[in-house]
Amino acid sequence: MQPLDGDRHALERQVLPIVAEGTTFVGTEGQRLLDQVDLTIAGSGILVVMGPNGAGKSLLLRILTGLVPITHGKISWAGQSSLVGNVRRIGFVFQKPVMFRRTVMENMTFVLRQFGLSKDDAQHRAERALIDADLHHLSDAPARRLSGGEQQRVAIARARVIDPEILFLDEPTAHLDPASTAIIEKMILDAKARGTRIIHVTHDLGQAKRLADDIVFLHLGKLVEHGNAETFFAGPKSKAAQAFVAGDLVI
Ligand SMILES: Nc1ncnc2c1ncn2[C@@H]1O[C@H](COP(=O)(O)OP(=O)(O)O)[C@@H](O)[C@H]1O
Ligand SMILES: [Mg+2]
Repeated sequence: MQPLDGDRHALERQVLPIVAEGTTFVGTEGQRLLDQVDLTIAGSGILVVMGPNGAGKSLLLRILTGLVPITHGKISWAGQSSLVGNVRRIGFVFQKPVMFRRTVMENMTFVLRQFGLSKDDAQHRAERALIDADLHHLSDAPARRLSGGEQQRVAIARARVIDPEILFLDEPTAHLDPASTAIIEKMILDAKARGTRIIHVTHDLGQAKRLADDIVFLHLGKLVEHGNAETFFAGPKSKAAQAFVAGDLVI
């Protein structure tokens, strides 16, 4: 898909690199839910964030997208300490699809209108995106009536329609059947092929192997491994990741 338009787009383009240093998030009872996480996100491809439930994966995504402020440490987006002015260069898809109580088409155009596109331009762009995502036949359906898999496909198409520089996906297929999961993995690979940087959270080992270029492994709020996916799967270094990759229960 073409970039949105002109100067405004150029101004809002830069989000990367995202640099997190000593990122710490302390919960209400003093627990370190994220502990001294150092992570730089630049480049291209799919970074898969793995780890057992409660490791802090969702929290890390919320911090990287500026949704949750950190307790200690430093985070920057393209050298800026805030996302004001470029927040719309980020796409976010949650585990449970969030659909507006509107048609599929209106879910798409609403986002584009927020971005400043005229009614006609929004309509054209949304139509193309729905055709691309093989969702055009559902354009006039009320979004909340769709199946879980269809809603999640709309959520991804809607996140992509603004041409984000980076797309964050938090376990988008956790509740879906294999057929819907396969379609969504294809959409994710397609976004990657078009140059979008992707940060994808999953605790599904098979999916991580299918999608990942790089891996981050979180355990108990700590980033215990970060590196090339093939190297990681061939021989994780930490005990927690070794157990996880072997299919053992890791708490
Ligand atoms: N905004 C928040 N404020 C306080 N605690 C949070 C917040 N978000 C998540 N947590 C807590 O942080 C821990 C890690 O949660 P989460 O990031 O959702 O884990 P994961 O996604 O790896 O399963 C959990 O104990 C959760 O209750
Ligand atoms: Mg989570």
